[in-house]
Amino acid sequence: MQEQINKLVADCKKQVAEANDLKKISELKAKFLGKSSPVNDLMKGLKDVAPADKPAFGKVINECRVAISELITSKEVEFKNLERSRKLQSETIDISLPSTKIEIGALHPITKVKNEIIKAFMGLGFNVAEGYEIEADYHCFQALNIPKDHPARDMQDTFYFSENTVLRPHTSPAQIRTMEVQKPPIKILCPGRVYRADDDATHSPIFHQIEGLVVDKNITLCDLKGILDEFARIMFSSESITRFRPSHFPFTEPSVEVDVTCMVCGGKGCRICKGTGWIEILGSGVVNRNVLSNCGIDPDVYSGFAFGMGIERIAMIKYGIPDIRMLYENDVRFLKQFR
Ligand code: DAH
Repeated sequence: MQEQINKLVADCKKQVAEANDLKKISELKAKFLGKSSPVNDLMKGLKDVAPADKPAFGKVINECRVAISELITSKEVEFKNLERSRKLQSETIDISLPSTKIEIGALHPITKVKNEIIKAFMGLGFNVAEGYEIEADYHCFQALNIPKDHPARDMQDTFYFSENTVLRPHTSPAQIRTMEVQKPPIKILCPGRVYRADDDATHSPIFHQIEGLVVDKNITLCDLKGILDEFARIMFSSESITRFRPSHFPFTEPSVEVDVTCMVCGGKGCRICKGTGWIEILGSGVVNRNVLSNCGIDPDVYSGFAFGMGIERIAMIKYGIPDIRMLYENDVRFLKQFR
């Protein structure tokens, strides 16, 4: 039997050596170790062997099975390794190659600053109300206490469509539209595009404003000061404060021009603030009684304050932008800095 076994192992060894792929190996596995393999036949024959010889026979057959199994398995492992390294080779990625660059977009600085202003005031309880860009002369001027042909109209270099229709030169008509339909308490913010016949390093024919309006019982200039101080701290720096200078607007009485501590020098005086330590950021005041009356709000019961600021101006101050036109040229090198 030993001879038969030796031949079997030698046979297997020869065929395994000749095998050239995994498929062939699995065929050999079935042939030499499967149910109808010679090794299995030998195992089955064990039952006819004399009991005394059984352990020795069993041992020999088992050794044969182990030998054959080792032969096949080692070849199988060899093929599998080969296949894996072939696969790895074909899937190699050259990580030193520069990747395709995907440019990430960003919000325009005007949008960014607008959102920042809105966020600051929303935190102080304001809601956003939008108006119209093509507006009635009445809402832009008359309701705001600026009669027809009054010299106060010169403050806004307005584009007229017709006698009664204009491209709004400020966001103030949005406060009129709100007061016409909403009764106090009112606490709104009106952002939007505005138009003026004006064009130089600090003025553009199209720009953006944000109007604020608060109307309720007992609203005073102190409330305005408190709100704007808080806004300056949120928007510019925790050290910022505001200063009120007397001014005039037909729609507010008293009216003030509001300055904020220069964020470049911290108030000491520098080139940016022209040595004053202050930078003008907006116009505001206590809502004129006539304006409240025009909107059906009793000025003996209610009072309010309003303010209006240019978004571009705030962006220019905040980021030290020297020319308003840089905000509209859309030079990617400029825009990238606001990512
Ligand atoms: N409407 C003014 C302008 O365009 C800005 C302004 C000043 C708005 C005072 C206000 C205000 O609401 O109270 O120049």
